[in-house]
Amino acid sequence: MNAPSTILVTGGAGFIGSHACAELLDHGYELIVVDNYSNSTPQVFARVERIAGRFVGTVYELDIRDRHALSAVFDRHSVDAVVHFAALKAVGESTRMPVEYYDTNVGGTTTLLRAMHEHGVRHLVFSSSCSLYGDGDGGPLSEGAPVRPTNPYAASKAACEKILADVCRRVPGFTVLSLRYFNPVGAHPSGLLGEEPCGTPDNLMPYLAQVAIGKLDRLHVFGDDWATPDGTAVRDYLHVMDTVEAHRIALEHLGDSPGMHEYNLGVGKGSSVLEVAAAFGEACGRPIPYDIAPRRPGDVRELVADATAVARDWGWRPTRNLADMCRDAWRFQRLNPSGHAGSARQADRKK
Ligand code: NAD
Ligand code: WQD
Repeated sequence: MNAPSTILVTGGAGFIGSHACAELLDHGYELIVVDNYSNSTPQVFARVERIAGRFVGTVYELDIRDRHALSAVFDRHSVDAVVHFAALKAVGESTRMPVEYYDTNVGGTTTLLRAMHEHGVRHLVFSSSCSLYGDGDGGPLSEGAPVRPTNPYAASKAACEKILADVCRRVPGFTVLSLRYFNPVGAHPSGLLGEEPCGTPDNLMPYLAQVAIGKLDRLHVFGDDWATPDGTAVRDYLHVMDTVEAHRIALEHLGDSPGMHEYNLGVGKGSSVLEVAAAFGEACGRPIPYDIAPRRPGDVRELVADATAVARDWGWRPTRNLADMCRDAWRFQRLNPSGHAGSARQADRKK
């Protein structure tokens, strides 16, 4: 089957969504984008257009929980498939605002499913998360590992997967490719798109970028007493460009076999906090100052993907390494002191 050509992208203004829009436009897809800008800005689309050299498509400011608004989008456009990024994603915040997380992530997904059903759209690529594996089991995690969420964010993703599997069982031809990302980081190599957290970053890579630029004083390494080679926790960092290439390839596989299919997206190799900090120091040209702080509540020792299934089924393998991730994250930080809303300093158009 040919890959679908008109794609509805939810959350297309966000970190991964904006990179995905650039990638899909570059490969000839027509896009319809919806976002409520709760964690992003519409200014990102001018940058996506600069990269792609074409219009992004029709963009709607709407909340995916707004059933009528979403249904009207499907009325107006003939959508072949949906790539569903829109969600709330901060683990710590989810413990303080669980209802908001379930409402947006689960309620948003059921509203989307309703609109898809009413309009006969049966192909979905879903943003899932390694966080649903909970503490993991110490080794590389395959898709068959137990789903044991330990916070409302992760539980919301697990609930979505359960709902999606039920829909696939019930609706003939319905296909969901649920991509369980490990730790997507980095930025577009043009310096035009990147990760722009609100306030002080929770996540390691944007925190390092702000230390490197001097906005933050030093990195606080959350624990050096884990049972790992250097005592700091290990994660599977994946370049956002590899992440979105996997989505483009997923679209080409939506017609392979109906039903629900889960895939890990990771490199399959872990890096410790100190290894990432050292790699960032190399990228920005000076060592990153750090101190050792207590473990962060809820953190786990190691989360690394067994990413062999996606390589086997689709031939997708990440091609960028930790140095590439740090170089690109640093370029975005350096060129965009005011984030996507400002004008990028000397960012170039080529990828
Ligand atoms: P992001 O916050 O940058 O992007 C999400 C986008 O969705 C934002 O533009 C936001 O404004 C929009 N949005 C949120 N709620 C909405 C609503 N109710 N209606 C319409 N739009 C809404 O996050 P991201 O890092 O790009 O993550 C994208 C997806 O990938 C999310 O589903 C997230 O849970 C998942 N994910 C992210 C990571 C990661 O580390 N970044 C890891 C695993 C999974
Ligand atoms: C990485 C490592 C920290 C900040 C999160 C979500 C997960 C998924 C990916 C969405 C950890 C350490 C961090 C700092 C530190 N997102 N660290 N100092 O926690 O692996 O995963 O993003 O689905 O659900 O939980 O990513 O970048 O926050 O942390 O030492 O200032 O860096 O302890 O070991 P995490 P992270």
